[in-house]
Amino acid sequence: MSTRKPIIAGNWKMHLTHLDAIQFVQKLSYLVDRATTDQVDVVICPPFTALRSVQTTIQSDKLAFGLGAQNVFPEKEGAFTGEISPLMLSKLDVEYCIVGHSERRQLLGESNEFVNAKAKALIKAGITPIVCVGETLEQREANETEEWIRSQVFQSLDGIKKSDLANAVVAYEPIWAIGTGRTATPDDANSVCAYVRSVVAELTDQPTASALRIQYGGSVKPGNIVELLRQPHIDGALVGGASLDPEEFAKIVRYPFV
Ligand code: PGA
Repeated sequence: MSTRKPIIAGNWKMHLTHLDAIQFVQKLSYLVDRATTDQVDVVICPPFTALRSVQTTIQSDKLAFGLGAQNVFPEKEGAFTGEISPLMLSKLDVEYCIVGHSERRQLLGESNEFVNAKAKALIKAGITPIVCVGETLEQREANETEEWIRSQVFQSLDGIKKSDLANAVVAYEPIWAIGTGRTATPDDANSVCAYVRSVVAELTDQPTASALRIQYGGSVKPGNIVELLRQPHIDGALVGGASLDPEEFAKIVRYPFV
C-alpha cells in the first residue's frame, strides 16, 4: 500500500467572486469533517482576487483546508505589470500553486521552460507546485502520449532537487478530458500516471518518484472518483467544473466514505 496521502484540489479557474468564495468555503466546512481531511488533503484554488478572503475564512474558522493559487510569476518583484510573485502568495499562506495548466499552455503559450521557472520559484518560497502535464486528443490518437508526457515531465521538472520533488505534486490531465465530460478510463489514467512516475524515477531516483503525489484531472465527478482513486498510481485529483459546487466537491473529497 502506498503511504502517499491523497490530495484533491478544486481548480475554480475564472469563477466565483471573493464573496461567493466565502460562502463556498463555509458551506464546504459543514459538509467535510475532520475524518475526511485526516485522510485526504483538500485544497481550494480560487482566483487571485479571492485568496485573501479564503485565507481568512480558513483561519478564523480553523478549517483543515489547504489554500492554492492558480498561477504565479517566477520573479521576486519588479516591473511585471499584472503579475503576482511567490512571496505575495506565501504571505497569504498559500501552500500550493498550479503551474502549467493546459489552458495556460494553450491560450497563453506557456512553455515547459516557463513552467519550470515557476515551479522552482514557488519551491524557493516554500510553496508546493502542482505541475500539470497532458496530451491532446490528436497526440493520443497518434500514439504520442508517452513521448509528449516524457518531454513535459523532463523539462517542467528539470533541475528541481530530489527532496523538493518528493514533496511536489504532478497533475496528469489529458486535454481531451478537461471540461468535456469525457474521463480517461481508470486504467488509462493509471497507466499514464505510472508512466509519469517512471519518468520522474529516471530524472531522479526511485524513492523520489515513489514519494511524489500524482493527481488525475479531467471531468472528475462524484461518480468516477472512487474508481480513479482506487488505482495504485493515482494519488488524488485536480477538479475543475465539479469543484464549483460545494455539495459536488464535498462528495468528491469524501470518496473514502462512500
Ligand atoms: P474539469 O477541469 O474537471 O472541469 O474537466 C479539470 C482541470 O482543468 O483542472
